[in-house]
Amino acid sequence: MKKKILVTGGTGYIGSHTCVELIGEGFDVIIIDNLYNSTADVVDRIQMISGIKPFLEVLDLCDNKRLDKFIQKHKDISAVIHFAAYKAVSESVSKPLEYYRNNLFSLVNLLDVMKRFDIPDLVFSSSCTVYGQPEKLPVTEDAPLQPATSPYGNTKQIGETIIRDTTVSDKNIKAISLRYFNPIGAHPSALIGELPRGVPENLVPYLTQTGYGIREELKVFGDDYNTPDGSCIRDYLHVVDLAKAHVIAIKRLIEGKNKTNYEVFNLGTGNGVSVLEAIKSFERVSGIKLKYKIVGRRAGDIEKIWADPSFANKELGWKTLSSLDEAMKTAWDWEKTVRNNKL
Ligand code: UFG
Repeated sequence: MKKKILVTGGTGYIGSHTCVELIGEGFDVIIIDNLYNSTADVVDRIQMISGIKPFLEVLDLCDNKRLDKFIQKHKDISAVIHFAAYKAVSESVSKPLEYYRNNLFSLVNLLDVMKRFDIPDLVFSSSCTVYGQPEKLPVTEDAPLQPATSPYGNTKQIGETIIRDTTVSDKNIKAISLRYFNPIGAHPSALIGELPRGVPENLVPYLTQTGYGIREELKVFGDDYNTPDGSCIRDYLHVVDLAKAHVIAIKRLIEGKNKTNYEVFNLGTGNGVSVLEAIKSFERVSGIKLKYKIVGRRAGDIEKIWADPSFANKELGWKTLSSLDEAMKTAWDWEKTVRNNKL
């Protein structure tokens, strides 16, 4: 019997790539998504890649009555991967209540049905944002967490705490929080990828849109940081590598290979890449000279952060396989597909 995995936010950017990998590994996938930041046709695209169309329930996890009814109908769910959340850092500063309500009510409702319907295993989308500016680099999982610099970041910290406390109080619940560094790129088929609403906040979609001519020029936020070229440093990992880590994490829980009931892993490449280096990578893979200008620092930006992924490498047997250029190439291919097909 195939194990059934519930993927919340499964039509979103990282969720859709994870559904493809889960199906590829023989799991039965059902998705809950309210389509706030995605479209229903993503399941057709998942089918074009994987051969199987996952079942999609359009449902808001904040609606606990409907969630309850849905889970009652699907009592054979083995485990949950929880992506569904708002994720725009600056929007969260202007709409904190929306962020706290959406990201935390949904998580509480989800844990509540998991407890009541005996669904024991949860993988949670967390973020390296919980570390703030770490004192030591590369950052390990035991680095002290810093006060969050945005309501979005705070929802990840509080979310992790809620999950940890739940695993302490209820020994039947086991969970893994995956702290992502900066996911970029798209599936090599260019059938799924990230579709930011409006003007992108994140570097790589802004970069590819500028390359395509949708944006006039990329603004590089600061070249006076204490880094070799003065621009900020991040750890960019290919979304397909990231998706594969979710499959490994969910198998670890289902097979009972977890060492404790609540585990945390950093998911990154271990390499720090500056904004200017990311631009050079884009120029290499696209053959386009990118228009950019240096502007002032962006409020709240971390100067430099990259992962120590050795715990995930050892414990999960996972490591990133794609280079920066390979990931960037898929981001560029996806941008062209989006524009050519007017997605
Ligand atoms: N940047 C620019 N110009 C842009 C956009 C970004 O120079 O137009 C720079 C930023 O200043 C930063 C780097 O590119 O130095 C990366 O910025 P992103 O916005 O792509 O990513 P962040 O690291 O700031 O934040 C991302 C996600 C958050 C998440 C965090 C850690 O947006 O949701 O990674 O996981 F919390």
